[in-house]
Amino acid sequence: MSARFRTRTGHYSAGPVLRLPAHRASSAVLAGAYPFLAPPTLVQGVPVGVDLFSGGAFCFDPWTQYADGTLTNPNVLLAGVIGQGKSALAKSLALRSIAAGRAVYVPGDPKGEWAVVADAVGGTVLRLGPGSPTRLNPLDVVGEDRQTLRSQLLAGVASATLRRDLTAAEHSALDAALAHLSGRGQITVREVIEALVTPDTCLARADGLRVQDRAADGRDLVHGLRRLVSGDLAGLFDAPTTDALNPMAPIVVLDLSALGSDDDALAIASTCAAAWVEGALASSTNPRWVIYDEAWRLLRHPGLIRRMQAQWKLSRAYGIANLLVLHRLSDLDAVGHRGSETRALADGLLADCSTRVIYRQEADQLSAATASLGLSEPERDLLPLLSRGTGLWKLPRRSHVVQHVLLPIEEPLIDTDAAMRAGGWS
Ligand SMILES: Nc1ncnc2c1ncn2[C@@H]1O[C@H](COP(=O)(O)OP(=O)(O)OP(=O)(O)O)[C@@H](O)[C@H]1O
Ligand SMILES: [Mg+2]
Repeated sequence: MSARFRTRTGHYSAGPVLRLPAHRASSAVLAGAYPFLAPPTLVQGVPVGVDLFSGGAFCFDPWTQYADGTLTNPNVLLAGVIGQGKSALAKSLALRSIAAGRAVYVPGDPKGEWAVVADAVGGTVLRLGPGSPTRLNPLDVVGEDRQTLRSQLLAGVASATLRRDLTAAEHSALDAALAHLSGRGQITVREVIEALVTPDTCLARADGLRVQDRAADGRDLVHGLRRLVSGDLAGLFDAPTTDALNPMAPIVVLDLSALGSDDDALAIASTCAAAWVEGALASSTNPRWVIYDEAWRLLRHPGLIRRMQAQWKLSRAYGIANLLVLHRLSDLDAVGHRGSETRALADGLLADCSTRVIYRQEADQLSAATASLGLSEPERDLLPLLSRGTGLWKLPRRSHVVQHVLLPIEEPLIDTDAAMRAGGWS
């Protein structure tokens, strides 16, 4: 079978032609067969870049797209290999959303690359680490459920340092220590440790325990919490809070770069600081992005994942859109083996991100990405080919390939390659 057709040079040429019977189907069915054919670009929200299939501007705003039914929740997963522009996209979304009246909160910035973004828009940067005078008291919470919040936070920190779940007796010892201090208003971690070492006799008796048994129940907790008062994190979270936080600040960044490369310290500090900041921001009702850049460094501790999951569940109630930045889906393997409770919690975080933006993935990650994100075959084949700044945006019932376009004004705030260029040949 062959046919004649005109080439660009004006000549006719013969070539094989497939004579297939015409096939009609609805656009919904065709979208399933070949997902990149169907959806018109998204036009509501802040401009992100170019939709490479339609050529139009691609816009995104999780609140608008949740309200119009495009999204089933406002949370976003962003995954891609090193240096592909994940942070650049997160920062652009932050800056452009702030211009549109949204607020932003970065609960832990281990590389110290968000301060320049906050400074550019008059935001607040809280620097925590050796040499910084900032102190945050994570137990500095108000409201009826403050005992529960304090207990959850301290249990999370202790289980992270002890690297195990707490026992029922340890939870009771912790709750008794907090109950003993409940009349004091603001309390510090140091006071909780003292109350664990010297438990309240009446409260122990009420639980049918001798005071020395209660003290024995709390002994490991004391070791677990000591890191906050005498270990590498001493001085950051064991004293009254020094900085007041303006809940109306357009962006609040917790800069943890001074803590160095210890992921444990980072995760614990991020949890303690986040507890305090979230309390301080609770009075603001402005829709807010919560951006976990480098989230793979935090996703190591079950207690912390539980906390994040609780936040995720509350996101719609509080007008929060979480943005979780990972390198690859196998980052979740560090959390726990398949079938474990913590792994299920981490998978739950992923499942609760109805927008998945996938930047370039290495070949060995394709099956994991395909399985976890429900990618079609053409989508999977595309992932290793994506260039810097280009991502597959997978939303419920639609996919887009989007080239993120940086604005000249954003470039100096987003450039993380400066050190690499400085080391080049001149
Ligand atoms: N859309 C884009 N257009 C042009 N340059 C970009 C784009 N996105 C990122 N870059 C540049 O690429 C470099 C790396 O970007 P970025 O730091 O955002 O990558 P990353 O994926 O967050 O890396 P890492 O995994 O190391 O955190 C930056 O210097 C940035 O200026
Ligand atoms: Mg980055």
